[in-house]
Amino acid sequence: MKKYLLKLSFALIVIASFCFILKHSWDSSANAEINAHMKGEIMDKKILVTYFSWGGNTKHIAQKIQTKTKGDIFEITPAESYPSNYHATTVMAKEQIEKRVEIPLKNNIDISGYDVIFVGTPAWWYTMAPPVKTFLIINNFEGKTIVPFITHGGGGEYSIKKEMGEYANGSKVLNSISIYNKGDDSTDSEISEWLNGLKM
Ligand SMILES: Cc1cc2nc3c(=O)[nH]c(=O)nc-3n(C[C@H](O)[C@H](O)[C@H](O)COP(=O)(O)O)c2cc1C
Repeated sequence: MKKYLLKLSFALIVIASFCFILKHSWDSSANAEINAHMKGEIMDKKILVTYFSWGGNTKHIAQKIQTKTKGDIFEITPAESYPSNYHATTVMAKEQIEKRVEIPLKNNIDISGYDVIFVGTPAWWYTMAPPVKTFLIINNFEGKTIVPFITHGGGGEYSIKKEMGEYANGSKVLNSISIYNKGDDSTDSEISEWLNGLKM
């Protein structure tokens, strides 16, 4: 019996190691593919990944995009923080969106040196989160390329891509990606495919 358990444990360790190696090599080959394909396209440009995130989902996706594109990353932060309570946040956000207020930001970044700016937002009340709207309005996007990425709770991306283009005056807007909450096991490859398909 002891011998049998020992053999079983050994077999499990071998299988687990094999799965780990397979996944790891797939991930790096997917990344290598992106780099090769995007050479001469977006990868040759100066990239900035910007995002606002209340609960961490959009941040999670922003970090994946940053790793794959090797761009810089910037978190958009409102001057007044949202409550930590979900319901209270939905109430505050609803009021800001309905009143169409341009809420002040705590920080900003000089985007003049970047060619391609990924802009990430959670879907809030069928549109982008107010801090992202402010970010797009107060910066000069003339001649810039923006790439929207949206996380949502089941409603999809609504008209957020179109709205981003309207607020970011003078920008060219590339194909967006929308992800349910923080995504799942297929999100990495979904993001890679999306990046591969982006055309300047
Ligand atoms: C204020 C608020 C409003 C929301 N409105 C919507 C919505 O209209 N449609 C939707 O699908 N999800 C909605 N959600 C869910 C979020 O879009 C979703 O969970 C998102 O991934 C959260 O991203 P974050 O963790 O980066 O904040 C809302 C969440 C909050 C907090």
